[in-house]
Amino acid sequence: MTTDPDRVLRCALVGTGNVARLHAEAVAADPAARLVAVTDLSAEAARAFAEMHDVPAVHDDLEALLTSEHPDVVLICTPPAVHREQALAAFAAGAHVVVEKPPAPSLDELDDMRRAADAADRRLAVVFQQRTGTAAAHVKHLLDSGALGRPLIAQCQTLWFRDADYFAVPWRGRWSTEGGGTTLGHGIHQLDLLAFLLGDWASVEARMWRLDRETETEDASTATVRFAGGTVAQVVASTVSPRQTSSIRIDTQKATVTVDHLYGHGHENWAITPAPGFEHEAATWELPSREIPSGHAPLLHDVFTALRAGGPLPPTADAPARSLEIVIDLGGWWWMLTDEWRGLAVHRSADAVVWERQEGLLLDTVGPPESGLQIGRHAMALADGDDAAWIYFFSHPWWDGSEIADASDDLHRRSSVQRARLHVVDDVLVCVR
Ligand SMILES: NC(=O)c1ccc[n+]([C@@H]2O[C@H](COP(=O)([O-])OP(=O)(O)OC[C@H]3O[C@@H](n4cnc5c(N)ncnc54)[C@H](O)[C@@H]3O)[C@@H](O)[C@H]2O)c1
Repeated sequence: MTTDPDRVLRCALVGTGNVARLHAEAVAADPAARLVAVTDLSAEAARAFAEMHDVPAVHDDLEALLTSEHPDVVLICTPPAVHREQALAAFAAGAHVVVEKPPAPSLDELDDMRRAADAADRRLAVVFQQRTGTAAAHVKHLLDSGALGRPLIAQCQTLWFRDADYFAVPWRGRWSTEGGGTTLGHGIHQLDLLAFLLGDWASVEARMWRLDRETETEDASTATVRFAGGTVAQVVASTVSPRQTSSIRIDTQKATVTVDHLYGHGHENWAITPAPGFEHEAATWELPSREIPSGHAPLLHDVFTALRAGGPLPPTADAPARSLEIVIDLGGWWWMLTDEWRGLAVHRSADAVVWERQEGLLLDTVGPPESGLQIGRHAMALADGDDAAWIYFFSHPWWDGSEIADASDDLHRRSSVQRARLHVVDDVLVCVR
């Protein structure tokens, strides 16, 4: 990757809808970058946006934009369903990509994007702006360094309100275009911050609910996530909550850390309360005097700095799969299963993710007796009509091989998976290729 720490990065933006404004303002505030061109399906929207943000060029589509502008960075602000194809086009044209959350509707698509970035020697940065700001960095440092003792139990709430008008936008509330419901579209922000603070997940047990909104997707979810370090978190996401709040609470051995906000946090939103007996340590946990609130501006600034220096992405913009994995394990199956199949647990093991037998289901029918049905972490299913579904299976030594002869034994490679048709016969899960 060629580097020049003084170069002003030429940015182009695709998708001039709601979130694009935050990108345009962040770029405008940053001397390291300049917004040179935009495009949108709606030429009118693109022109109005360009006028408002003083962008010199508007193109009919992304291809035309890439061909004539050769941007250094493409900011993808379109709905999730098109993130993959647009990121691949940008990488093929030699640009870096900054993609809005969720980076893709499935881990398979995200992997394609990551592979394309590697092949082109470009970077794929993801926008989870809740990770940014001086308070989150400070708390992460306290947790990582062990200053607060071990984190034990956590709560993570995204209680938002989205009415029918919100879901009237055609791409929202549908599996095919949004890729998920409120867990993927809204809850992922706090969940991503939680996972940024606590690290890799170990297991997820969840239920998804459609309580009030007329959507295909869920409008609420409830989950218990266990992190690899042992912390147990209760996670709630909702679009049906009139008094809105976004919050995280982490109880460690020495203190309670909380952040309560809505769409962004500054120091006033955070509190660290010592446990009895640890009051004398509290002075060393105080937030730094210099405050940068969370937001798109610090995120893009850190990404631009890394790109200009040719270094790795900052932790605030890397690991795009961490929270997406949790969301997908939390709800990946929900939409294709009938009521009695909901409420499965997913465990990360050394080999694969195990969907545990629960609620009297005979899930071990197709797996080894000792471990239950084994499915990859990317068990995000593809719809195939109303009553059929596809799931991905990993190869595994217990399988006789006939169905998956060409599969690799690398259980974590998406390329090794096979598609299997899922049938439910007399309460027994059967899969046939
Ligand atoms: N980080 C955040 O806080 C935040 C906030 C809101 C939205 N988002 C994310 O940003 C993305 C966009 O959300 P939004 O609310 O801005 O949506 P939006 O509907 O307001 O805007 C999307 C724009 O993309 C355009 N578009 C769609 N398909 C296109 C294509 N193939 N080529 C070019 N343009 C295309 C649409 O015409 C529209 O103008 C989503 O992934 C969403 O989850 C992030």
